[in-house]
Amino acid sequence: MRTLKHLFEKNRLWAQRVAAQQPGFFKELLGLQRPEYLWIGCSDSRVPANQIVDLQPGELFVHRNIANQFSNTDLNGLSVLQYAVDVLKVKHVIVCGHYGCSGVQAALGNLELGLVDNWIRGIKDLAERHNGELGLLSDESSRGDRLCELNVAQQVANVCHSTVVQSAWRHGQGIAVHGWIYRLGDGRLRELTPCFTSPEQVPPIYHLPGSAT
Ligand code: CO
Repeated sequence: MRTLKHLFEKNRLWAQRVAAQQPGFFKELLGLQRPEYLWIGCSDSRVPANQIVDLQPGELFVHRNIANQFSNTDLNGLSVLQYAVDVLKVKHVIVCGHYGCSGVQAALGNLELGLVDNWIRGIKDLAERHNGELGLLSDESSRGDRLCELNVAQQVANVCHSTVVQSAWRHGQGIAVHGWIYRLGDGRLRELTPCFTSPEQVPPIYHLPGSAT
């Protein structure tokens, strides 16, 4: 049986290098993790969360899925958010999309991909809601890129509307929710949405009872 020996070798060298550069690094991490940031990003292999913001192990709590979705019916995403906010006490939630996202592009097309078609269905709904604006764009790649931006904004809204963030804000826990987009072509991040820090920035229908409005 092949055991991906080259990856174990790369791991050994990496651990050795880190330990040489920062003695005690792994022992310190053993105690606890205290990340300030939760990253909700795309699974795309070209958008590795820690690397593109140059953060070390222990500094970024990460959730990735196809096309950086956050849904109030996804137990996985909700659990990550709840744990990050309530237990780890992260200060920032970053939803990061990227231009050229295959999941978003697939949502614009009519290819049958299988189970994943259900995962990206919400992006089709989003495209349908914005079909006037998207229809004005002349080529498919511009429509795809604009939908990548709209998708980030929608997922930021979904995070802000969640009972987890609403409850944290109601209790005075300072959580900032950010919407970013990454360009594969130059490795640069850009802020896409305003930074959301309070219930007043969210429609009242999503507020929890007792929220300051
Ligand atoms: Co993607």
